[in-house]
Amino acid sequence: MPKAEFHASLLAFIHESRKRWLDELFDWLRIPSVSARPEHQPDMLRAAEWLAFQLRYIGCTSVELLTTAGHPVVFGELITDPKLPTVLVYGHYDVQPPDPLELWTTPPFEPTLGLLKGVEKIFARGACDDKGQVYMHVKAIEALQQLGPLPCNVKFFIEGEEEVGSASLAAALEQYKHKLAADVLLISDTSIVADDVPSLTASLRGLAYLEVEVTGPNRDLHSGVYGGAVDNPVNVLCQMIASLRDEQYRITIPGFYDRVKALTPKEKEGLAAIPFSQMDYQRDLAIGGTRGEAGYSVLELTTARPTLDVNGIWGGYTGEGSKTVLPAKAHAKISMRLVADQDPDEITALFTAHFKSIEPPTVRVKVTPHHGGAPFASDLDSAGYRAAEAAMTQSFGRAPIPARGGGSIPILALFKQVLGTPTVLMGFGLDSDALHSPNENYGTFNYFKGIETIALFHQQFGGAKTID
Ligand code: BES
Ligand code: MN
Ligand code: MN
Repeated sequence: MPKAEFHASLLAFIHESRKRWLDELFDWLRIPSVSARPEHQPDMLRAAEWLAFQLRYIGCTSVELLTTAGHPVVFGELITDPKLPTVLVYGHYDVQPPDPLELWTTPPFEPTLGLLKGVEKIFARGACDDKGQVYMHVKAIEALQQLGPLPCNVKFFIEGEEEVGSASLAAALEQYKHKLAADVLLISDTSIVADDVPSLTASLRGLAYLEVEVTGPNRDLHSGVYGGAVDNPVNVLCQMIASLRDEQYRITIPGFYDRVKALTPKEKEGLAAIPFSQMDYQRDLAIGGTRGEAGYSVLELTTARPTLDVNGIWGGYTGEGSKTVLPAKAHAKISMRLVADQDPDEITALFTAHFKSIEPPTVRVKVTPHHGGAPFASDLDSAGYRAAEAAMTQSFGRAPIPARGGGSIPILALFKQVLGTPTVLMGFGLDSDALHSPNENYGTFNYFKGIETIALFHQQFGGAKTID
C-alpha cells in the first residue's frame, strides 16, 4: 500500500476506534496499581492480568506473567515471520501513590475526560505515566493488523516496579533475556517538547536515592528544660543539608562533579533552540523565579546538570497544634539526579563519606542507600532512531528534535548492558502532565497521536530493514 494511502486508512481506523480505545484504557486506569504499597498487591496482579488479556486479544502468543522477586512482568509476543525485524516494547504498569488525595479535582482512579486550558485531557493516576503510553503500543498493533500483515514482529515486556526503582528487574533481565532478542527497544515513557514540537529523548538522567538519619539524645526532651544546650537533630540535619550546596548552588560533596561531562557548544546550542518560555514556566508553577547552579539555563539545569534535592524531611512533632519537644531523631530522603558519566554507586559512596565527615560530635548520622540508576543516552544514529524520526515527521508534519529528559528510567542502562539493543525513547507526554502529582493527565491528542506514530514506526522500521 502506498505510504499516503496507508496513513489515511490508519487515521480512519483510529478515528472509528476512538471511543472503544478510551474506554479500554479507562478500565485499566481504574485499577490502582501502586507498586509502593503492599495493600495494593492484589491490584498489581489485576493490572498485570488485565494487560495480559489485552495482549492475547490483539493476537500475542506466549502471553505470560513472568515472575520476579517482586511484581511480575507482563510478557507477550507476536512473531509473524522470523525474518522480520523485532520491536521490543518496554514500559510499566505500576503507578505512583496518588496522595495527597485532597488535591485531586476528580478521584485518581476514576478516569475522567476534562479540559485543561482548553485541551482535552484524561485525568487519572497513570494516564501518562505510564499506562496511557503503554496502551498506545497495544492499540497500534491492533490498528496495524487491520491494515495488513504486521511489518515487524513485536514483543512486550511491561514491568511493575519502575516507580520503586526496578529492584527485581536486574535479575529478571538476566533470567528472561533469551526471550528478549530484538532489533530495537522502543519505549514511550518520556515527553515531547510540546504538542506542536515533537521530540525524541536523547538522554535521561540517572539517580542515586538515599535516606539519612540523625540521632541526638536518647529520647525526646522538653525543649524548655533542655533546649539551648542539647543539640537538636532536626536543626543539625537542616544545617548539614544546607551545607551540601554553596552560594552558587554547586554541590559541595568532594568529587561530585569529577565525572560530569560539560555540554559541548553544539549541545548547548541544541538546548537553546528548544522553545521555552520562562514566563509560562513560572506562571504554571506559581513561582516568582527559578534558581539553580549559576551559569546554566533552566533546560540545562533540568536535563544536563546533576542535582541534590530533599524529597522529604521529618522529625519531632508534626501533628496538629504544637508540642514543645526537642526531638531525638531527624530524617530526610535525598535524591541526586546524575548525568553522564556519573555512577550511582560511586556518588552514593561519595555522599556517605562526606555526610559522615561533617557529622558534629553531638549527634550520630546514618546513611541508608535506596535505589539508583545510571544516566542514559539513546542511540541517535541507529535505524530505530531514524524510523522514529520518519514516523514523527509523518504524523506531526514536523521533524522531531532530539531533547534531553530530566527524569530517570533506572533500568535502561542495564538493558543496554544485558541486551545491547539500540534504544529509542519515543514518548508522547508533556512535562506539564502532572506526573507523580495530583491531577495527572494525558492529552487525548497525545494518546491518539502516539498510536498513529507507533504504527508508522513499525511500518518504517519493517520497511527500512527489508530494503537494506
Ligand atoms: N516516566 C518517568 C521518567 C520520566 C518522566 C522521564 C518524564 C522523562 C520525562 C518514570 O516513570 C519515573 O518517574 N522515573 C522515576 C524513577 C525512580 C522512581 C526510580 C523518576 O525519574 O523519578
Ligand atoms: Mn514512567
Ligand atoms: Mn514515574
